[in-house]
Amino acid sequence: MRVALGSDHAGYDLKALVATTLADWGHEVVDLGTDSAETSVDYPDFGAAVGRCVTSGGADLGVAVCGTGIGISIAANKVVGVRAAVVHDVTSARFAREHNHANVLCLGARLTGPAVALDAVAAWLNATPSGGRHVARIAKIDALDEHLEEER
Ligand code: RB5
Repeated sequence: MRVALGSDHAGYDLKALVATTLADWGHEVVDLGTDSAETSVDYPDFGAAVGRCVTSGGADLGVAVCGTGIGISIAANKVVGVRAAVVHDVTSARFAREHNHANVLCLGARLTGPAVALDAVAAWLNATPSGGRHVARIAKIDALDEHLEEER
């Protein structure tokens, strides 16, 4: 799997851990920054970068990290075709992929410890997107994207 990664300064250390762990698991990582925990940067830039990388085909999936996971998920979800989910545990991570077909996983480095965060990433990557009624619901989300584009 090719996985795009992005974070702001608050998420930098966890992003670095996710990057090395994904590589250990045999995945290819596309690291879109930021490159330091010391310099304050704006999470929307990195949420958008991860989202665009996924929807343009530069990566299969994305992981985005900020202090809470909230801001970067809001930004990523502005990219048409992104389904970004903030998760804090393994179960929500698994359901995010199974039921919501989340293509970007968002983590809050100030809220979720590294071990739980890595377990959540693993659960999300290893889950299988469910079919049936879930596909129809994802289609409704995609239709909302189309509606948004018409409004613009
Ligand atoms: C940065 O201080 C912080 O606001 C950001 O990482 C994130 O938590 C926003 O949602």
